[in-house]
Amino acid sequence: MSVRRLAPQELQPESFAFTAENLDWAHKTIAKYPAGRQASAVIPLLMRAQEQAGGWVSEPAMRYVGDMLGMAPIRVYEIATFYTQFQLLPVGRKAHIQVCGTTPCMLKGAENLIKVCKRRIHDEPFHLSASGDLSWEEVECAGACVNAPMIQVWKDVYEDLTPEDLEKIIDAFEKGEQPQVGPQNGRRSSEPVTGLRALTEPSLFDGSMVGTGAGLAAARATIEAARAGEAQPAPAQPAAAAAPPAPPRWNPAPAKPPAAEAVKAQGSADSTGQAKPGSDKPDAVKPN
Ligand code: FES
Repeated sequence: MSVRRLAPQELQPESFAFTAENLDWAHKTIAKYPAGRQASAVIPLLMRAQEQAGGWVSEPAMRYVGDMLGMAPIRVYEIATFYTQFQLLPVGRKAHIQVCGTTPCMLKGAENLIKVCKRRIHDEPFHLSASGDLSWEEVECAGACVNAPMIQVWKDVYEDLTPEDLEKIIDAFEKGEQPQVGPQNGRRSSEPVTGLRALTEPSLFDGSMVGTGAGLAAARATIEAARAGEAQPAPAQPAAAAAPPAPPRWNPAPAKPPAAEAVKAQGSADSTGQAKPGSDKPDAVKPN
């Protein structure tokens, strides 16, 4: 994680003000919050200021937003320096590439993505490429760990990346094109990389079951079938039978030692087969 400080004085502009259009938007945004809670609009206003200024938020912009919301400048500095969505230095005109370097992404090859950034953009993070079009930095988890390794550029994420994918993405940005966002390996969203193994009925997703209750019933039946398949030992196959290959099982459970099965069958109080209470962690938020 890099140290996040405001840009040096020589890079700061004299002043900042929203355009008429952005000012109108800002007033409407502030009005969405209850009386006395206008400071809650600080993040959307800072983001709009960043977009207006070409990808980074200057100290005058932070003070301007603070004045609009009745906040002391230090309160705005705290927010802008905490969230890596806010850039504190001028960044590449076409793309500022944020490479996630947290454990899941690092284990899946983030270091090789960083090597590409060093070679294609600049050896050091937060430096502009020779053309001024690109810059990069390493950031902490962006909440897309299932699709590691990944990068974020502005509000978009590019996931399941190989170094070759990143080269193509950089090529596209250099040409002024918009690369395809999301997973780069063909999977949709964060589905299993091996393909769907449950809830595969297309009518579950095409809207045809809306309001009929059939979708829920079908989903329950699929889940129950999967659970039943896990709970029961596989039947012995007749030696001579030419059985068709079994379909891949969803979330196959690891084999349990016979002793544990015996204890569980007897209803022992020591059984470890109890479902754990739900996690109290909030759902991860995936950047849009
Ligand atoms: S560790 Fe990279 S997105 Fe979470």
